[in-house]
Amino acid sequence: MDGESEQEILLEESIFIDAEDESKGRIVIFTINRPDKLNALNKLVTSAIKQASKKVMNEESIRVAIFAGASPNKPLEGKRSKPNSFVAGADISEFKGKKSEEIFEIFSDNCWEAVWKIEKPTIAMIDGFALGGGCELAMSCDIRIATERSVFGQPEINLGLIPGGGGTQRLTHLVGYGKALELILSGKFIDAEEAYSFGLINHICSPEDLRNKTIELATTIGSKSSHTLKIAKSAVRMALNHSIDEGIQKELRVFSDLFDTEDKEIGVNAFLEKKTPNWKGR
Ligand code: COA
Repeated sequence: MDGESEQEILLEESIFIDAEDESKGRIVIFTINRPDKLNALNKLVTSAIKQASKKVMNEESIRVAIFAGASPNKPLEGKRSKPNSFVAGADISEFKGKKSEEIFEIFSDNCWEAVWKIEKPTIAMIDGFALGGGCELAMSCDIRIATERSVFGQPEINLGLIPGGGGTQRLTHLVGYGKALELILSGKFIDAEEAYSFGLINHICSPEDLRNKTIELATTIGSKSSHTLKIAKSAVRMALNHSIDEGIQKELRVFSDLFDTEDKEIGVNAFLEKKTPNWKGR
């Protein structure tokens, strides 16, 4: 059955980066749990994702957040199995009868932006459909890892709509103007191979390898200084909002500021002494 309470609709699992030293922090996996509706984002899920994003920001022990979709439930007798899905979009049933003012208000404070604004590293772990708001959720994350059976697209045009969870902007930044327009104007679905070929996703793997590969990358990232990770993410983000000259000036400032941190001393000394750095996060 679909989970229909806020706890059940977004499952949470923690994995310690270093099982022997919990102070090294944890990776948290949030799994959207509406597999009978292909994990479509209804009001309850979007609200739970916004809460989860706040939690990732506020809890110091969380170093990396992973977003995933629940696997299909066992089908009822005589029924076909539902397909694998990361998220098959915003819940279309909630669009019926809605007018612009109401939608404007709902989308002014949305889950895609909440995930995008997380200052810590985020990864989308994708197995199956990543369509519309699902593709947008994946693009709100920093990194996308998908199985070879995954399918991507922005099919809103088929509903007389356009992407409204940041898709027109983030897709254009990620894959370029021409490919973004092709996907948004045609509404066509593409497979993981094609998505990988123009940079929509970072990695493709088999369904069996997806979890391990994602956790492995999250562990590598999560073992760095949490402060330096935050600065690195914000510095790369600056490339989206500034000219290259302005961005380079800003990089110089934040790069230089890192020389006043404890973690820079820790990192440099650890290298010179051939030791593993024990980061302080400041
Ligand atoms: N919103 C609400 N419900 C959705 C949904 C969405 N975005 N995507 C899938 N579902 C529901 C279906 O209505 C169906 O519910 P039901 O079993 O109660 O009838 C269930 O999920 C399974 O989907 P179904 O369409 O039967 O699976 P399929 O294998 O035949 O097709 C898709 C899969 C992804 C091609 C198809 O579901 C689809 O096109 N979904 C909408 C994608 C979309 O336009 N997303 C952007 C929204 S802005």
